[in-house]
Amino acid sequence: MKAIVVAGLALAGLVLAGSANASTELAKKSGCLNCHAVDTKKVGPAFKDIATSHKGKAGADTALVAKLMAGKEHPKVKASEDDAKALVKWILAM
Ligand code: HEC
Repeated sequence: MKAIVVAGLALAGLVLAGSANASTELAKKSGCLNCHAVDTKKVGPAFKDIATSHKGKAGADTALVAKLMAGKEHPKVKASEDDAKALVKWILAM
């Protein structure tokens, strides 16, 4: 019984770590990390600061995806719209 609980926890940990890595990979692949970092300001603001400044704002995710895809105020990104959605969701959850 105890072994099952331990195995379950280990699996949950793996799933969580897996999804975080998937988004880091996606951000790297999409070129975001050339200008952004999670914790520190580079060319663009830290992802954690972006998350803080948009916290609790309704529609922030949709607006940010639109901003990224438009490539006007924000530099043009090479992510697909689906990837941009996943990335914005990942950033706002920080
Ligand atoms: C060429 C550099 C560059 C690249 C590449 C880049 N960014 Fe940015 N990003 C910036 C700068 C500069 C800002 C701050 C100005 C602004 O808000 O547009 C910013 C701001 C942002 C914001 C906050 C916008 C707001 O209105 O608060 C988000 C979200 C964001 N970037 C996501 C991404 C994602 C996701 C990628 C990859 C698909 C990416 N960025 C790639 C330079 C870049």
